Amino acid sequence: MSNIILDKSKHGWWKSAVFYQIYPKSFQDTNADGIGDLRGIISRLDYLQELGIDGIWLSPVCQSPQVDNGYDISDYCAIDPMFGSLSDMEELIVEAEKRGITIIMDLVLNHCSDQHFWFLEALKGRDNPYHDFFIWRDGDGVTPPNEMKATFGGSAWTYVPELGQYYFHQFAVEQPDLNWDNPAMRAELYKSIRFWVEKGVGGFRLDVIDQIGKVADQMITANGPRLHEFLQELSREAFPEEGLVTVGEAWGATVDSAKIYSAEDGSELSMVFQFQHMCLDQGPEKWDFKPLYLPDLKACYKNWQQGLHTEGWNSLFLNNHDLPRIVSRWGNDCDEHRVNSAKMLATMAHGMQGTPYIYQGEELGMTNIRLPIEEYADIEIQNIYRERTAAGWHPEDVMASIYARGRDNARTPMQWTAKDGAGFTQGKPWLPINGNHTYINAEAALADPDSVFYYYKKLIELRKSHEVFRSGWFELLDPDNEKVFAYTRDTEKEHLLVVCNFSGETLPFDVPERFCGCEMLIGNYSDGEPGLRPYEAAMLYYRT
Ligand code: GLC
Ligand code: CA
Repeated sequence: MSNIILDKSKHGWWKSAVFYQIYPKSFQDTNADGIGDLRGIISRLDYLQELGIDGIWLSPVCQSPQVDNGYDISDYCAIDPMFGSLSDMEELIVEAEKRGITIIMDLVLNHCSDQHFWFLEALKGRDNPYHDFFIWRDGDGVTPPNEMKATFGGSAWTYVPELGQYYFHQFAVEQPDLNWDNPAMRAELYKSIRFWVEKGVGGFRLDVIDQIGKVADQMITANGPRLHEFLQELSREAFPEEGLVTVGEAWGATVDSAKIYSAEDGSELSMVFQFQHMCLDQGPEKWDFKPLYLPDLKACYKNWQQGLHTEGWNSLFLNNHDLPRIVSRWGNDCDEHRVNSAKMLATMAHGMQGTPYIYQGEELGMTNIRLPIEEYADIEIQNIYRERTAAGWHPEDVMASIYARGRDNARTPMQWTAKDGAGFTQGKPWLPINGNHTYINAEAALADPDSVFYYYKKLIELRKSHEVFRSGWFELLDPDNEKVFAYTRDTEKEHLLVVCNFSGETLPFDVPERFCGCEMLIGNYSDGEPGLRPYEAAMLYYRT
C-alpha cells in the first residue's frame, strides 16, 4: 500500500496526520563529530517515508550555545553550525516535501540564550533598547526579589552587579526569560517566525508556551493572566496561513484550557501537548516516581477524549526528548516482552482521537539506559544529582530516579545498525549508545515483517484509511480493571474496539457482543486464541 498524501493547505489537515519527532543531536551524524546533523536527517528521509509519517517535529536546530541542547537560542534565524547550514535546512525542507513530509520547527519563545544579541545588549545598561526585552528587578545581590526557583536548580533570579539588578529565568541561568509585556520584543519574535514560514516550514511546536504569560512578582509561571491574549496575537501576526500546524507544549493544560488553545476557529493553536497522563506515576516531583495505577490512566484518557470531542484537538504521545522510553516505563523491556509490550502501548495510543507523535526510536521499541553519573550530559540530570545528594539523599536512590526518569534515556543516539556506532556515527557519540543496539536497530526491524516498525507503519495506514480514528466517540470499558485497558470508538457507520493487556499474565476478556466475530484490523499475536495473552493488544472493527 502506498502512502496516502494529505492536502496540507486546509485547516485541520493535521487531524488525519501522524508526526515524528527528531532530536537532531541524536538522529544521524554524517561528518563523524559524534553529533547528528541536518544532512543526516536528509539521508534518512526515505526511512521516514517508508514508515508513512506526514510531518517531522524537529527539536531546535537554531544557533545555540547548547546549554540545554538548543532550547537556549542565540539567533532565531540562523542554523547552528554543529547541525549544518541554512542551505542544508532549505534542502531538508524541499527533500521532505517531495516525500509528502512537512517540517515543523521548534520555537522557543519563552526565553532565549544569555548569548543572544538582545541579552548582550541588555547587559550594557538600563537605557539600552533591549534591556526591556527581559525581566529585571532592582536588588542588592543578597536577597533575590522572591523565593521562586528555576526548573534547572537554584533561584529563578540571577544578579548582575554592574546593573544592580536581577534578571528572571524559569529554566537555567543561561536561559533568561523574554518579557512578553514588551510589544517590541514580541514583534521581533514574529519577524523571525515569518522568516522560517517563508522558507517553507509547515508549522511549529511551541516550547513551554503556557509559561510566556508569567508574572514574576506574583510567582505565576503557567497560565498567566495575559496568556491567551498573547497567543491570539501570535496566531494573527505569525501564523495567518490556514495550513500551518501549531502545537503548544503546555504542562499546565487542563481539558478546559485546551479547548481554548485548540479552538476550531484557529484563534490560537492547532493542538496541545498536555501532560496529565505523563504525571500519573510520580509524586510531587518527577523524580519521585511510583508505579502506574492503570485505572488512573484510563480515567485520565476518558476525561480528555470525551472532553475535547468536537471542542478541541489533542496530541497523542507517550515519549519525547524530555521523557523516559515508554516501553521501559509502562511496558516491559525484558527480551521476552519488549516487542509485544511496545506494540501494545502503540495500539492504546493510536486508537484514540488526536494527532499521534512518534518519538525517534519508539518505532523500534528503544529502551532506557543506565549510565554512571558522569556520563550523563543533561543539565537537569546533573543538577538533580547535585541537589539531592547535597540534601542528604542516598546516591543510589538518586540514581534510581535518574534511571527511571532522566531525559537522557530518550536522548541516546538512534540505533540504525548492529555495528559499532550503531550506524549513527563513525566518531565518538556525544552521548553513549545503548548496548542493545546489537539487536534493537532499524536494519533488523526493516528485515522482520513482525517488527515494531511495521506495526507502527500499519497503525499509521489505518488512521488514514478509517474515519473512526479521527472522529469516533470514545467510551471506556471496565474502568476499574487494573490490567486491561479497553475502549470503543464509534461514528454512525464505523465501530472500533481497542483492547490492551498491560500485564505479563494471560487474562480472561469478554469481547462485547457487538464485536464478536468481526474483523481484526491489527493485533500483536497472529492467531486468534481466546483470552488475552501477555501484553496482547488488538483492534476489532465493523461497519454498519
Ligand atoms: C521544554 C523542552 C525542554 C527544555 C525546556 C526549556 O520543556 O521540551 O527540553 O529543557 O522546555 O526550554
Ligand atoms: Ca555531525
